[in-house]
Amino acid sequence: MNPNQALWEKGDFTRIAATMRESGEALVQRIGVTKGMEVLDVGCGDGTTALPAARLGADVLGVDIACNLVEAGNKRAAAAGLTNVKFQEGDATNLPEIPDKSFDLVVSIFGAMFAPKPFDVAKEMVRVTKPAGRIVMGNWIPNDPTFVAQILRISSAYTPPPPEGFVSPMTWGIENNVIERFSAAGVSADKISFDHDTFVFNYNGTPSAFVDEFRKYYGPTMNAFEAAEKSGRAADLQKELEVLFNAQNKSGDPNRTSIPATFLRVTVAI
Ligand SMILES: C[S@@+](CC[C@H](N)C(=O)[O-])C[C@H]1O[C@@H](n2cnc3c(N)ncnc32)[C@H](O)[C@@H]1O
Repeated sequence: MNPNQALWEKGDFTRIAATMRESGEALVQRIGVTKGMEVLDVGCGDGTTALPAARLGADVLGVDIACNLVEAGNKRAAAAGLTNVKFQEGDATNLPEIPDKSFDLVVSIFGAMFAPKPFDVAKEMVRVTKPAGRIVMGNWIPNDPTFVAQILRISSAYTPPPPEGFVSPMTWGIENNVIERFSAAGVSADKISFDHDTFVFNYNGTPSAFVDEFRKYYGPTMNAFEAAEKSGRAADLQKELEVLFNAQNKSGDPNRTSIPATFLRVTVAI
């Protein structure tokens, strides 16, 4: 199986996504999704941004490499009574099922950044966007002091080094890399703009219980714990994450967790 698919089908990302819903909804409102707009959500997961976009009246297609998340997205859409959103399996590096120039807006929030071959990802996103359309990406930022960048940094220190030639997903959080990738796809640099934006993770439990959710359900953290168990360092990893989650909790209530995370919002005008 494609290792990328295996990573995201591991566990159950829905458990983490459930803590990101308010921010997904707010982001979709900020980026100007309107009624009748054709929207493609790449690496959509179970629909944290696809469902609110459909609620605003857009016609939404969500594509994700993980079958379990595609299924979860379709179930969530049905439960919400939304008929203008559909989820299907697909790989951000190669989307042959999608014709050229078919979407007004292509969004990928912490999605396509995790696909290998970033130049292919940029090329595909540009190819499927209509002239005068837009691409909006949300990408975690390497070495950022906030939540997700720190989870990924801590986790990677316990995971075996990636294979030769592996391009870190975090490079999508570096402006020059983003410009290079979209330039290679034919977009001039003056059409690419950047903002720092925030997602807040809201969990109804203590920060330590939230660490357990990541340990049980979030593919990259599950892999880190598996490797740490083999080297006898699982307790160290648990402790590092608990310190991080507790330090960044802004809820003001010891039994609830609310942690902001900064990301790079990339907008590409086609
Ligand atoms: C951190 S999750 C974010 C999901 C969703 N966008 C959200 O905000 O909740 C990353 C998502 O990217 C998907 N993904 C990773 N590699 C992919 C690829 N090559 N093609 C399509 N989806 C991919 C994963 O399956 C997963 O659903």
